[in-house]
Amino acid sequence: MSIIQIKNLAKSYRVYQKKEGLREAFRGLFRREYKTVEAVKNVNLTVERGEFVAFLGPNGAGKTTTLKLLSGVIYPTSGVATVMGFTPWERSLEYRRRFALVMGQKNQLWWDLPAQESFRLNQKIYRLETEQFEATLDRLTSLLDVKRLLGRPVRELSLGERMKMELIAALLHDPEVLFLDEPTIGLDVIAQHKIQQFLKQYQEERGITILLTSHYMKDVAALCKRVVVIAEGSVQYDGSLAGIVDVFSKDKIVTLELEEGQSDAGLERFGTIETRNLPKVALRCERNRVSQILTQILNEYTIADVAVEDPPLEEVIAKLYTQVSRDQNTNNEGQS
Ligand SMILES: Nc1ncnc2c1ncn2[C@@H]1O[C@H](COP(=O)(O)OP(=O)(O)OP(=O)(O)O)[C@@H](O)[C@H]1O
Ligand SMILES: [Mg+2]
Repeated sequence: MSIIQIKNLAKSYRVYQKKEGLREAFRGLFRREYKTVEAVKNVNLTVERGEFVAFLGPNGAGKTTTLKLLSGVIYPTSGVATVMGFTPWERSLEYRRRFALVMGQKNQLWWDLPAQESFRLNQKIYRLETEQFEATLDRLTSLLDVKRLLGRPVRELSLGERMKMELIAALLHDPEVLFLDEPTIGLDVIAQHKIQQFLKQYQEERGITILLTSHYMKDVAALCKRVVVIAEGSVQYDGSLAGIVDVFSKDKIVTLELEEGQSDAGLERFGTIETRNLPKVALRCERNRVSQILTQILNEYTIADVAVEDPPLEEVIAKLYTQVSRDQNTNNEGQS
């Protein structure tokens, strides 16, 4: 049985809609107008034990809402989900002891206390044996290199240090399933890299199942084989990271290094010039014409070197996000 099973999951919120203008505001005092926000429309997803899945999507796509549902923080409007056989929003104690949620945007540690105090509290909450607790804490703090910071109030820690503490707090009870909501948000590249390395090593060692959201493609590329893209509340893509490029980009970037004395005149016939930094010229070409174009170029020009690459992942993802929301908007217009 799959460790995470989500079927037709939906969550909508009724929100008070404030109207413009004084008259409308006055009217609103007596008759409130609400509208429904469909945070998650229809999510279907299964995840196998030991997978490290990236859960991507533009702002407002429904990622955090899905993770909150899977953590039992909120109830769905409709649909079903099980994690390790538990229905998250039934909030059984047994389930709580077997998963963890880390939110990069939200502090779960006591702000004024040293992290170690929060950790001890977790020990009590999860009823962890002292010996095992100490051993796990020791292992995690040395892996993340924060031992010397354990006694410092959390509010004095840097963002990166705090994030490490948040991770430790979440992992002390040895969860089998981990939900990570933007764990590297706001971190500098070095701190980001450290968290990535830690997660990678930890996941490989423990074989736990992780669902990760991030807006940094570096996180995804470093950690996840499988990528699920959600937009407008439902799943738009489920496959490999490389597959996204295949599905959503029709371009290749052909970089040519011209032989000395060779002019680049006329290259624009083959595609759009991305960069021109002689003797190097990068051309954006249609993917299915690349071999034909290369043959022609090699015939007409003297070329020292050539490289064919996919466009940058960030660009492909950005295109995918805008494309999805454009499609959705036209669909919605069609309906109303
Ligand atoms: N408590 C709430 N009340 C009303 N609307 C909400 C609530 N929580 C989320 N929403 C709305 O639901 C949609 C999905 O929000 P969600 O936080 O899940 O997006 P997200 O994919 O995590 O985005 P981001 O990448 O910005 O974190 C948004 O339009 C948001 O405004
Ligand atoms: Mg979010």
